Amino acid sequence: MEKKIILSGMQPTGKLHLGNLEGALKNWVSLQDDYLMHCCIVDWHSLTSEYTNTGDLKEKVFQMAVDYLAAGLDPKKCAIFVQSQVKEHAELHLLFSMLVPIPRLARVPSYKEKRKELGLDSYGFLGYPVLQAADILIYRANYVPVGQDQLPHIELTREIARKFNSLYGEIFPEPEAKLTKFPVIPGIDGRKMSKSYNNDITMGESSEQTTSKIMRMYTDPKKIYKGDSGHPEECPVYLLHQIYTPDYKNLYPVCHSGELGCVECKKLLAKNLNKALEPIRAKRKKLEANPERVWDVLESGAKRARKRARETMGDVRNAMGIF
Ligand code: TRP
Repeated sequence: MEKKIILSGMQPTGKLHLGNLEGALKNWVSLQDDYLMHCCIVDWHSLTSEYTNTGDLKEKVFQMAVDYLAAGLDPKKCAIFVQSQVKEHAELHLLFSMLVPIPRLARVPSYKEKRKELGLDSYGFLGYPVLQAADILIYRANYVPVGQDQLPHIELTREIARKFNSLYGEIFPEPEAKLTKFPVIPGIDGRKMSKSYNNDITMGESSEQTTSKIMRMYTDPKKIYKGDSGHPEECPVYLLHQIYTPDYKNLYPVCHSGELGCVECKKLLAKNLNKALEPIRAKRKKLEANPERVWDVLESGAKRARKRARETMGDVRNAMGIF
């Protein structure tokens, strides 16, 4: 049977962290055998909020590609590419922009929230989810692996596909979100791990850096001294143990009884986390020492993506009867 198509995308924020690794990348890696994957680094999307400071964009794209490969995405199986290298995304975005009423875009939750929070009000920012729809539909993707927060964008993508099909003929499938269940990864301050909170542990940092961050990590505030009874269910260190310590269940009773102190518990986590990250870091180092190889991967990924995108655009122009 022919493989179904997946498109996934991430904005090039620079170095990825454990939240990105556990929440998205590992899932992508697990899908690459069974689906025709397209992993897109959406650099144009990042311009919707970061248009004044564009000088480090190429470096951020590079670092993201390194993280993708180090996490185990295989360029033989999936097309790894940069959005701006496939200009057809922009062409389809332009055509889609005719189909979407402005009030519909003004109702998109991410627009309403970020407009206020970041003071963004450009035409490009309003059109963010239309560009995302073009990213997805240009490959006629069947599935889009995303988190809950992206569901409104997938819904709009489906609406655009339906509207296009009803006006010009059946060109696009209605893609479905592939929601991934993953634990929320806490940052070192106990809030959700996020680059913007500055509480992240990146995939590529040294084991010393990682250890020092874990040792500084927020823990159950009711456990102050060794001997105090702990509450693992409220402790972000225990949450990370659940991912990186195979026999984490044994820690629960000894934390609860007060036998296990936080320092010892954190040392164990740092050890296990470093062990899990070691192969990724080693792969990262190799890739960083050989940037040509990374740019080659992106180049050949773009070639593959472009081929499919051009086919779709041919059908789109035909269906619309335009040049
Ligand atoms: N909006 C997505 C995010 O912030 C990024 C993105 C852009 C995307 N285009 C996409 C995700 C296409 C999936 C499919 O995470």
